[in-house]
Amino acid sequence: MSSTPQIFEPEYTPEVARVTAPVQERLKDIIPEVEWAVHAPYIAEINRLKKELNAVLLVHNYQTPEIFHGVADFVGDSLALARKATEVDADIIVQCGVHFMAETTKLLNPDKTVLIPDLRAGCSLAASITGADVRRLREQNPGVPVVSYVNTTADVKAETDVCCTSSNAVAVVESLGVDKVIFTPDGYLAQYVASQTDVEVIYWEGACEVHEKFTGDELRDYRKGYPGISVIAHPECPPDVLEEADFVGSTSGMINWVQQKQPEQVVMITECSMSDNVAVENPNVDFVRPCNLCPHMKRITLPRILDSLRNRQYEVTIDPDVADRARRSVERMLEIG
Ligand code: 13P
Ligand code: SF4
Repeated sequence: MSSTPQIFEPEYTPEVARVTAPVQERLKDIIPEVEWAVHAPYIAEINRLKKELNAVLLVHNYQTPEIFHGVADFVGDSLALARKATEVDADIIVQCGVHFMAETTKLLNPDKTVLIPDLRAGCSLAASITGADVRRLREQNPGVPVVSYVNTTADVKAETDVCCTSSNAVAVVESLGVDKVIFTPDGYLAQYVASQTDVEVIYWEGACEVHEKFTGDELRDYRKGYPGISVIAHPECPPDVLEEADFVGSTSGMINWVQQKQPEQVVMITECSMSDNVAVENPNVDFVRPCNLCPHMKRITLPRILDSLRNRQYEVTIDPDVADRARRSVERMLEIG
């Protein structure tokens, strides 16, 4: 007879209400009061357990507000999280993001336990290309260096000269001092990079399933419907979307732009949770919220983070041979600054 695993459900007690009250106050415009009793016990227990286990949570900007504001030790875009991963002093790192991010963290912390709360948290870009595809691209373009977006598997990173993220892609490409590069796997990011540099960019036609859905017409409709609105977009969007945007940047680039410019009204052309997370810290900005959800990012939930800590699951491992080569391409990116 098979036994069903015990699911631990922490309770909402007066003590839980007390310790989580400051977070509830910050999120009161984003999370309805009735929902708080659901999130609060998990927030309290995760924060308690983190201390007990000497664990830290690296949280991407697309995570839901109760994770982003409730349990994160560090938040950021892919580049900031990769940098933070080199500085973390903890026994366990829980990556609240997608699998390629957890792999990057493991590459930079081979001796630490790196956990991801749900192994199914993938990425359409990472799934669009294999190490064998990169080897073929090299054969077709002898001598041309390969730059790969960090949204790739360790196998692809191992075949790559240098990685990049959306916040340093142009700088990485230009740092190579060549007139031609192979850029994988995001075709739209590659075209954006090509528009910002004289370096010729040969690209793979992968796409982010969240950002490829936006259209230039949609942005023009926002401008018509909300006169004076600021429109800012992630470079994983198609070229006609980026042409319409007032600013193009990584998730953290977009957050910094809002913090500095304090526009009266803004629409962030990216994943849903960004606007909620940024709105908390920018009460004077009115956010029009398009909702394209990343199903992979949303696999990470408070109950799964708690299970991850309690059961040390799911541990990220990388074949040592692959890891050594993949690490070099990530470290080369970090050296560029
Ligand atoms: P950044 O946070 O680096 O801008 O990347 C966005 C992304 O696609 C993560 O999935
Ligand atoms: Fe991948 Fe796009 Fe989701 Fe980012 S938003 S994890 S690029 S599918």
